[in-house]
Amino acid sequence: DDSTDTEPRSPVVTVMGHVDHGKTSLLDALRHANVVSGEAGGITQHIGAYQVSSPETGKKITFIDTPGHAAFTAMRARGAKVTDIVVLVVAADDGVMPQTVEAINHAKAARVPIIVAINKIDKPDAKPERVRTELLQHEVQVESFGGEVVDVEVSAKNKTNLDKLLEMIALQAEILDLKTNSHRPAEGTVIEAKLDRGRGPVATVLVQRGTLRVGDIIVAGAEMGRVRALISDQGETVQEAGPSVPVEVLGFNGPPEAGDRLAVVENEARARQITSYRAHQKRENAAASISG
Ligand code: GTP
Ligand code: MG
Ligand code: NA
Repeated sequence: DDSTDTEPRSPVVTVMGHVDHGKTSLLDALRHANVVSGEAGGITQHIGAYQVSSPETGKKITFIDTPGHAAFTAMRARGAKVTDIVVLVVAADDGVMPQTVEAINHAKAARVPIIVAINKIDKPDAKPERVRTELLQHEVQVESFGGEVVDVEVSAKNKTNLDKLLEMIALQAEILDLKTNSHRPAEGTVIEAKLDRGRGPVATVLVQRGTLRVGDIIVAGAEMGRVRALISDQGETVQEAGPSVPVEVLGFNGPPEAGDRLAVVENEARARQITSYRAHQKRENAAASISG
């Protein structure tokens, strides 16, 4: 934040945890959507980003979903970096597992507060108290154990305690007192990018400051372009996206890389200057790593 950051903004919450502990199901339940059933093998392969409005206050929360599969460590690290709060999902029947511990470590390294969602409490073999004990072994001390970490027992399946979870997130966000400035050229982070057959390069970007608009000249990593279209998490075409808003960006000349910083620049000449320099650096780094 700097002194021009005076407008409140929505919190960005990353949902992390071990594979199949119910991260996407929980987000689906919060959004009244159904992403899980559309996933290949029910396994999340990418980062999804969505906004949810609190039923109490109408205030928005931006959620980022991450895969729990062991192969996606880098994605969880990226998720932790763009986030204000981590919701750590732990299945009450399975307990703390390797990717739970990894998520704790990412959150701690990024100095991001954790809220624990103990999921699947509908299951007959759910042991929420055991989860709290296991968390303690990894230095996550919940309130009932004398610590400061909030935990909420939830069931994504039965939609139990979802309002309570949203309330706890809103409370934590209030403490963080998140501020921004929407009246400036956009800055953000690429959370994923791909080359789409029909649409060309598509980047999912989390706008963090300023406002991104159709027509803006953009750079991210070694790629540049002009924003041709912006698509919201609802799949709707929008003209602009402000702070804490996730949006699909069309118009890059090539797909940038996840984790790249996005910036709006004044003109194409400037964009070319920045990206050709970065492309040159990338080639030099690659050459240096080959020659050892
Ligand atoms: P990855 O993204 O692959 O790491 O998995 P995930 O953490 O997103 O879990 P996902 O939402 O795909 O759920 C995994 C399985 O757990 C699915 O079969 C869900 O139906 C089930 N599940 C999720 N939440 C609950 C719950 O609250 N209760 C019960 N009984 N099952 C649940
Ligand atoms: Mg998932
Ligand atoms: Na899954």
